[in-house]
Amino acid sequence: MSHAERRRRGGVEPRLSRWPSQDASFYIKLERDFAEAIAASELVPQDITRVCLNLFRNGFYAANKRQKEGNEPKFKPTLKVSTKDLSDAVGVRVPDNGIVIAPKIKDKLFQPFFTTKPTGEGTGLGLSISYNIVTQEHGGTITVDSQIGEFAEFTVRLRRAYGATIAEAAS
Ligand SMILES: Nc1ncnc2c1ncn2[C@@H]1O[C@H](COP(=O)(O)OP(=O)(O)O)[C@@H](O)[C@H]1O
Ligand SMILES: [Mg+2]
Repeated sequence: MSHAERRRRGGVEPRLSRWPSQDASFYIKLERDFAEAIAASELVPQDITRVCLNLFRNGFYAANKRQKEGNEPKFKPTLKVSTKDLSDAVGVRVPDNGIVIAPKIKDKLFQPFFTTKPTGEGTGLGLSISYNIVTQEHGGTITVDSQIGEFAEFTVRLRRAYGATIAEAAS
């Protein structure tokens, strides 16, 4: 990607509608809680979009799986996306109420090719690619939190001034 394409942007709104629907019976509630008037940040939009899509896809899968297990008639699959202005950084949280992440695999999630999904459904690359984009390319952090029976939540933190460093390095 050319450096001209690195644009100053306040937000990334992936086009979820372009996703092919693999399972017409699946329904999920999407909640958005975006910080008002969040100041612009420098980032690589295509790559951060990719990170968001990886997190959404995993959240959808986890919520779908919990619903398919079928023990909870009142269960409503939900994925939430929230953004927060942290002054020197921007925080993005993506919690879902799907299947939980066992504590013993928590440290492995970001490793390349780690997957708990059957062949054909998972490559184990989504989180490792996301990790590289966030940490190496943007100097940010990506972490996971999971509470048994409650939620799995991924948090991305992007430093606001990091894009300036990229641009300087390129010139
Ligand atoms: N939201 C989530 N809820 C539960 N488990 C998750 C979630 N996101 C990721 N995981 C776990 O992390 C693993 C690795 O994720 P990822 O790198 O995206 O690969 P893949 O989705 O191809 O398996 C998944 O197989 C799953 O076990
Ligand atoms: Mg994935």
